[in-house]
Amino acid sequence: MADFTYLTACSIDGYIADADNSLQWLFDVPAVESDSTIPDFIDSVGVLAMGATTYSWVLEHEAVLEHPEKWHGWYGDRPTFVFTHRDLPPVPDTDIRFVSGDVTDHLGALRAAAGTRAVWLVGGGELVGAFDDAGALDEIRLNMVPVALGGGAPLLPRRITSDRLSLVEVRQVGQRVDLRYAVRRTAG
Ligand SMILES: NC(=O)c1ccc[n+]([C@@H]2O[C@H](COP(=O)([O-])OP(=O)(O)OC[C@H]3O[C@@H](n4cnc5c(N)ncnc54)[C@H](OP(=O)(O)O)[C@@H]3O)[C@@H](O)[C@H]2O)c1
Repeated sequence: MADFTYLTACSIDGYIADADNSLQWLFDVPAVESDSTIPDFIDSVGVLAMGATTYSWVLEHEAVLEHPEKWHGWYGDRPTFVFTHRDLPPVPDTDIRFVSGDVTDHLGALRAAAGTRAVWLVGGGELVGAFDDAGALDEIRLNMVPVALGGGAPLLPRRITSDRLSLVEVRQVGQRVDLRYAVRRTAG
């Protein structure tokens, strides 16, 4: 059965975007040229799920509507579920499914779309928290960069205690530390 994996970059004080929804603090950290963490992870992914702010950020920041080939380059033809109440534009020639409401109602469709591969919970944190509430969070992978933001979009605004989290892997990638936790599911 598909694993539900939350992979995200974050600050050391637990934010995934600053108060202006900017990720410049992340791009300011020197990248390691040989780092293939994200492409390797995407190879294991069958379907993506994200919230409206994250989707809109990608569209605007990367000018994806003008350059839809970028989306294809990153994600191929993987389906993407965008949780929203808004009327957002789809990226041309992609399988983007706009959904809303209780995440529980969409788990079956996400699993069917993922097949034997993973569901990538891209964010934001509240949406991932809703997946955990529904018993659908199996792994948290953090790419933590040396920045404290003091506020912004929270990584995961839930109480998940240590009896549910097992550290599986720690890796240093330049100035970044990658942490991988297995998550014991809630009853859901
Ligand atoms: N550091 C990283 O690697 C990373 C990763 C992911 C995201 N980010 C950034 O982090 C920020 C996250 O923003 P965010 O906290 O606002 O989270 P978000 O999950 O991207 O967007 C939240 C919005 O999604 C919609 N939504 C969420 N759940 C829904 C549901 N069940 N049904 C219908 N609509 C639902 C709602 O918008 P509407 O009601 O308006 O549609 C809600 O306000 C963004 O700036 C993003 O770019 C960073």
